[in-house]
Amino acid sequence: MTASDQVWWRQGTIYEVYPRSFQDSDGDGVGDLAGIEQRLDHLLHLGVDALWIAPFFPSPMADFGYDVADYCAVDPLFGTLEDFDRLLAAAHGRGLKVLTDFVLNHTSEAHPWFAESRTSRADPKRDWYIWRDPAPDGGPPNNWLSIFGGSAWRLDAPTGQYFLHSFLDCQPDLNWRNPEVEAAMFDVLRFWMDRGVDGFRLDALWMIAKDEQFRDNPADPNWHEGMIPYLVNTPVYSGDRPEALGICERMRALADSYPGDRVLIGETYLPIKRLVTYYGEHGDGLHLPFNFKLIQTPWDAAEIDAIIRRYDAALPGGAQPNWVLGNHDNPRTASRIGGLDAARAAAVLLLTLRGTPTLYYGEELGLADVEIPPGRERDPRAFTEPGLGRDPERAPMPWSADTNAGFTSGEPWLPLPPDWAIDNVAAQDVDPDSPLSLHRGLLALRRAEPALHAGRFTPLGVQGGAMGYLREADGERGFLVAINLSGAPARYEAPAADQGRIVLGTLRSREGEAISGTVALGPNEAVVVALNPSAAR
Ligand code: NOJ
Repeated sequence: MTASDQVWWRQGTIYEVYPRSFQDSDGDGVGDLAGIEQRLDHLLHLGVDALWIAPFFPSPMADFGYDVADYCAVDPLFGTLEDFDRLLAAAHGRGLKVLTDFVLNHTSEAHPWFAESRTSRADPKRDWYIWRDPAPDGGPPNNWLSIFGGSAWRLDAPTGQYFLHSFLDCQPDLNWRNPEVEAAMFDVLRFWMDRGVDGFRLDALWMIAKDEQFRDNPADPNWHEGMIPYLVNTPVYSGDRPEALGICERMRALADSYPGDRVLIGETYLPIKRLVTYYGEHGDGLHLPFNFKLIQTPWDAAEIDAIIRRYDAALPGGAQPNWVLGNHDNPRTASRIGGLDAARAAAVLLLTLRGTPTLYYGEELGLADVEIPPGRERDPRAFTEPGLGRDPERAPMPWSADTNAGFTSGEPWLPLPPDWAIDNVAAQDVDPDSPLSLHRGLLALRRAEPALHAGRFTPLGVQGGAMGYLREADGERGFLVAINLSGAPARYEAPAADQGRIVLGTLRSREGEAISGTVALGPNEAVVVALNPSAAR
């Protein structure tokens, strides 16, 4: 293992905090920075290495902070810059890294840059955003669609031009082809790195460069009812353009100019062959272009095994893989893949694969999506695209059986998980069979074992509804992981040499059981087998 294998973002686990829903400290029903600070010991005890905090900057909150009006301040809803500094110091004091969100594709229309840009066609900031004349018929300049529905262009009547918004029509896209934009945005990175943040999650990174000629996106002949309307055209011109890589490389150089292994993690909703390009041709792009394939692939052994192999094969030499199981934009694992038992097996997968895992808050409890009664929806997407709202996966964290699950003394901004009074952090803390205990066990094992946090990965193939793989490192004990992704019992035949004992799994009762070649697995069961040294190959 080389020194570069040992950097924290290669060996560690990242935890996403959605600040509105984590912990409220002032009784307004919305989580805040001081609340996160109060709960740092939960993260420490869980065994993660870094927290990524979704946006907490001044914002009209049309997209709950992903519409930024000032990149270098804290929205009063979440506290103050001093609260942030205190949180950062408290996290660092516990050995936890802190990543902030960098919303670089767009601002809020309330950002002073945009307010200035829209004043006139001659304004010096006009070109900081993407303005185009109407099409000859007066309609939008081309067929690009907003990811949140409808055209990606909004007419701004006073100057008679359209501006581009890849998301909501109050989130105008910045023009990264303008060097002044890049310089201003790099100053934002400096502002936060100077304060001590350990890196950034780069929002909508794959969208930042658009076709210079603004060509129409081609229709996707495979689009069908049920797919999101945005994908009716293949978005080959409205994002993921080659120029994005140059921006990533310059951001990387800036991050690398700071001491202490600052990390750049990009939101890259792209096919595998495209997303791996964001590592950079010479490993000088993003440290971790997010890999969402576990979210996007059906929970089926053959499909998951295939996607892992395809990703592994596509990674450039030296690139650090990464895996995301959930986030604030997608249904929770337990709801997506068929219940809590399946989610427990998925946790074993996430935390034993080769690559940096990202865990979404609440997944360690096995939380499911929360049903949002009519009238309580808050996510704009619930209104622009009914059925696609993201409130269900953003419910407040249930901490205890105290008032409002210990989340707030006020009225929670979204409904609490229905079972909060009996199923919460405090209850799971003392239950050795709980999802929380499983996550703690997996994270502790991963941290302690070089084979798991830095070792090789050898897929062993799919047998019926189950899959298996080996994790090994020279001179260290190795592991066999067998996971049943189906609701029926399975037998997984590992190579005869692979003898050992179950050290951890979805069923605690099996810990210590000797395994010799074949692993019997119950429905949705997963086991981690520590191999006898003689079995090491
Ligand atoms: C991706 C973020 O994760 C999502 O929550 C947001 O709505 C869009 N980017 C727009 O910023």
